[in-house]
Amino acid sequence: MTSDFVHRFERGQSSRTLLLLHGTGGTEDDMVPLGRRIDQKAALLSPRGKVLENGAPRFFRRLAEGVFDEEDVKRRADELAQFVDHAAVEYGIDLNELVAIGYSNGANIAAAMLLLGLAKFRAAILLRAMPPLSSNDVPQLAGYRVLISVGSTDQIVPASEGQRLGDMLREAGAAVTIETQAAGHRLVLNDVTVAQRWVALQ
Ligand code: MLT
Repeated sequence: MTSDFVHRFERGQSSRTLLLLHGTGGTEDDMVPLGRRIDQKAALLSPRGKVLENGAPRFFRRLAEGVFDEEDVKRRADELAQFVDHAAVEYGIDLNELVAIGYSNGANIAAAMLLLGLAKFRAAILLRAMPPLSSNDVPQLAGYRVLISVGSTDQIVPASEGQRLGDMLREAGAAVTIETQAAGHRLVLNDVTVAQRWVALQ
């Protein structure tokens, strides 16, 4: 079943695994260097999104930039959660030590998993994320820890959208930290630095 998603798995030297979720147009290879920089010792599980938008892999369908097909978001979040469950068995991943790290579309699917009560991870780093679902009906998320890193001049995912996602998760009981970078949609060195520090505290 794990072959259901094209993916890459790299063994680590600690009990932690990073679930790496790429942005639009990425592949299972894209986030590996970033994951390694954030935690040198963790194992890495990196799937490729199955939805193709003009050939560009994504984790769910969108109708326009920032306008999502919410039924597809729900279905794809469930599918990805099942993939993580199967991968955990196949590779011996401790889900209590699983940290999701998503960028852009990858951060949005991780956010969807949290908002739908489908998260297999207890901690998540969401880089340039926004609320992927419009419903305010969010499950109890006490015990979940989330770092959201927004770019102050991001034209694709405005910083205010990251803040709004943070508010939704906080209201549901998650421990949320928001970091603002002097940056646009692209990641900068300080995204890596804050992520490294945050992971080290988990
Ligand atoms: C999304 O589609 O998830 C967001 O608009 C970010 C992007 O991938 O461009």
